Amino acid sequence: EFRIEDMKRDLLAEIRERVGDKQVVCGVSGGVDSTVLAVLLNEAGINMRAIFVDHGLMRKDEGVEVRKNFERMGVPIETIDASELFFERLEGVAEPEKKREIIGNLFIDVFWEAVGNAELLAQGTLYPDVIESASNEGSKASKIKTHHNRVDRILELQRQGKVLEPLAELFKDEVRELGISLGIQPDIVNRHPFPGPGLAVRCPGVVDRERVRIIQDADDIFIGKLREHGWYDKVWQAYACLIPVKTVGVKGDERSYEWAVGLRAVISEDAMTADWVELPYEILRETSHRILNDVPGVNRVLYDVSTKPPASIEWE
Ligand code: XMP
Repeated sequence: EFRIEDMKRDLLAEIRERVGDKQVVCGVSGGVDSTVLAVLLNEAGINMRAIFVDHGLMRKDEGVEVRKNFERMGVPIETIDASELFFERLEGVAEPEKKREIIGNLFIDVFWEAVGNAELLAQGTLYPDVIESASNEGSKASKIKTHHNRVDRILELQRQGKVLEPLAELFKDEVRELGISLGIQPDIVNRHPFPGPGLAVRCPGVVDRERVRIIQDADDIFIGKLREHGWYDKVWQAYACLIPVKTVGVKGDERSYEWAVGLRAVISEDAMTADWVELPYEILRETSHRILNDVPGVNRVLYDVSTKPPASIEWE
């Protein structure tokens, strides 16, 4: 308790000193890290702008919820709906790293255009991100994937000393505790992690609105079932993805030829390794039943029983 209060006091003091009367811009995504960051900056009473770029690859209705949550916390945010642009640029692109590159760069472009002239940029980078990126920079062979808060243009700003990363010495658990002590609602603070490139990394192959809609609807059902059965907080991360394979099935009296949806639920300490969760069959059964009935375009539901390694947590 005291430790977190001390830490909060120190962080606020550091931020005020480092920022002075400059303006700080921060990007918010609705995730734990950027939410804690924005509320922390707001608490510091500095001159700040929080910008939310909606790339259209968020969970179902997430954009609306993010705006509502920030409103309730009294932190003003500017929203940019850029989904049209993202879907356009992603059209026909199937290669995973290419998709990440497009999303990462476009995200920075859109964000940067909104920013205009920022004196300082704040990022919700945590300690594990720092280590993982450092090992990525070290050798090409160890680079597994591009994390989008580490693209070249941000690194350039970093070299110019214009990037503020107040959470960079913290682990996720500490960020959550800090969030609670800042008065952020527990259900926001305890949300599962969500990847920067969003549902694009849960949609192997090409990404389009129809596929994203399927993932959003299926995911919403799955997460709802986990909450209903008291399992949401027991798993580290859970989601639905699209398995872009069409197979033959039967719907009503007719032959169907439709996609499969994958469900994944994992426990992990630090995202570097993960184990799949032995969810009760009841949850899987109810989730599958609802997806097959309520999500058009899907005729199969599969549960992923792969550990990381050799699989990864996401499906890209
Ligand atoms: P993987 O799929 O690499 O995921 O096993 C490990 C964890 O990282 C998250 N993830 C990301 N988070 N930007 C992020 O902020 C990204 O580009 C990104 N890619 C994956 C993933 O959700 C999981 O928690």
